[in-house]
Amino acid sequence: MKQTKRQPRRQSHPFRRRIITLSTLALLLLIGLSGFVYYQYKTQHTVSREDVTGDSKYKNITSTTKKESSSVYTLTVEYPNTGNQKIDQTARAAIDQDVSDYRGSFDAKGSVPATPFVFHGSYQVPFMNDAYLSLVVTDMYDVHGAHPAQLSHFWTFDRKTGETISTSQLFKNNKGSEALLAAVRAAVKSYDANKGGVLTDADVAETVTADAIADFVVMDANDIGFEFASGSVAPESDGVISVKIPAKTLISELKPELAKSLFDVELPVAEQPTAAHDADCPAKCVALTFDDGPGRYTEQLLTTLSQNHAHATFFTLGPNVAANPSTVKHAIELGNEVGNHTWSHAQLSTLSDAQVMLEIERTNNALVAATGVKPTLLRPPYGDANARVYADAQKEGLAAIQWSVDTRDWQDRNSDIVCTRAVSGARPGAIILMHDIHPTTVNAIPCVIKSISALGYKMVTIHQLLGDTQPGKVYFSAK
Ligand code: NI
Repeated sequence: MKQTKRQPRRQSHPFRRRIITLSTLALLLLIGLSGFVYYQYKTQHTVSREDVTGDSKYKNITSTTKKESSSVYTLTVEYPNTGNQKIDQTARAAIDQDVSDYRGSFDAKGSVPATPFVFHGSYQVPFMNDAYLSLVVTDMYDVHGAHPAQLSHFWTFDRKTGETISTSQLFKNNKGSEALLAAVRAAVKSYDANKGGVLTDADVAETVTADAIADFVVMDANDIGFEFASGSVAPESDGVISVKIPAKTLISELKPELAKSLFDVELPVAEQPTAAHDADCPAKCVALTFDDGPGRYTEQLLTTLSQNHAHATFFTLGPNVAANPSTVKHAIELGNEVGNHTWSHAQLSTLSDAQVMLEIERTNNALVAATGVKPTLLRPPYGDANARVYADAQKEGLAAIQWSVDTRDWQDRNSDIVCTRAVSGARPGAIILMHDIHPTTVNAIPCVIKSISALGYKMVTIHQLLGDTQPGKVYFSAK
C-alpha cells in the first residue's frame, strides 16, 4: 500500500517538474520575445536628433539644419532663415509637407529596411537683391521604390512683404504670359526629346499649364527659371527639369520697373503701344495725319478729335516735340499715334546716310524723352525719299508713311477748302495729309469728321488702318 501510495507521488513529481519546466521555458521565451520586440522597437524608434543653426553660403541668410537618424530612416533638411518670417514659413511648410509624405510612405511599410530610407532636403538662392529673393527648395527621398522621389518648390519673393511675385505680375498684359507659356512648353518638349522623347505637344500642353508656371525664379541674373519636380511635367525618368527662358526674349512684354530690378537686362525704350489693327479697316477707315507740329493749335485739335471719337496720327518735328512735350504725351494718352517727321524738316534724299540717321535719331530721342515711347513711323518731309532713305529708316526701326490724299492746306488757308479736299479724297484705306500748325486746318476738322463719318468711314490711326507695319517699307494707303 505504501508503494501504491508512493507511486502516485512518484508519478506526480515528474508531472510537476514538467509544469515548472514548461512555465520556465514559456517565461524565458516571453522574456526573450519581449527583449526582441524591445530591441526591434529600440532600433526602429530610437532616433538621434540634431538641430543646428548656422551661416549659409548666402549673405544675411542662415540655415537651420535638422538631422534625424535611426536604423529605419535618415532625414537631413535645411530650412532657410531669410530675415522675413513669411518667406521662411512658406519654405518650411513646403519642406514639412514633403517630410510628412516621406514618413507616411515608410510608416505604411512597417518593417525595418536592409538599409535606412533616406530624405535629403536643401535649398538654393539663385537670386537676391535688397528688394527680391528667389528660392528653390529641392527635396529628395528614397524609400526603396522604383525611383527616388525628387520634389522641388520655387518662388520669387518680395523681401519686404514676404509675398510671392507671380509670373503674370512680370508682364504688362496677358500676351507676355502666353508667350512665356509657349516658350516653357517648347523647352520642356526639347528637354524630353533629348532624353528619348516620349512627349507629344498635347502631353506638354496638358502638364505645362499656366498654373505650373505660376511661380518662377530668377536664374543666372537673366533668365526666368522653373524647376519642375520629377514626374510633374514629364516622365519621372526625365528627373527634375530645369527650364530657363532668357528674359530678353520677352523684354517688350515685361513690366519695365520690375524687369529692371529682377533681371540684368538692357531695357529698350518701349515701342509705341499701337492699337491692334481695326477689323473694320481698311474698308471703312481713313487715316487723318497731321505734320510739322505739335504747335499752338494742337491741343484744340486733340479736343475736337476726342469729342468726336476720332483718332489721328501726328508726324512731329523734333524741336516742336522738345517745346511741347506734354501735348505729345496727351496725344498718345487720347489714343492717337505719334511719328517722326525729322528734326529740321530736311529733304532726306539730299543728305548722307549719317545725316539722315541723325535727323531721325534726334527726333526719336525727343519723342522718347517726352513720352517714353519710341516711334515706329517716319514721314519724310515733302514725301522726299528714295531706297537709301528707306534703308536708313529701316535701321532706325521706322516704316515710311506717305499719303494718298494731299489737302494742300498749307497753300489754301481756308477751312472750307481744306474740308472739301479731305472729304472728296476719302476712299477705303486713304491716308490724308494735313498740318496742325495752321489754325485754318484745325478749324476745318469738325467739318472733316462730320462729313467723312457721314460717308460711313471711321477715322483711325495709321496702325489701326494698316496693322503691323514693317520697318523700311513705304505705305501710301491701305489696300
Ligand atoms: Ni512737313
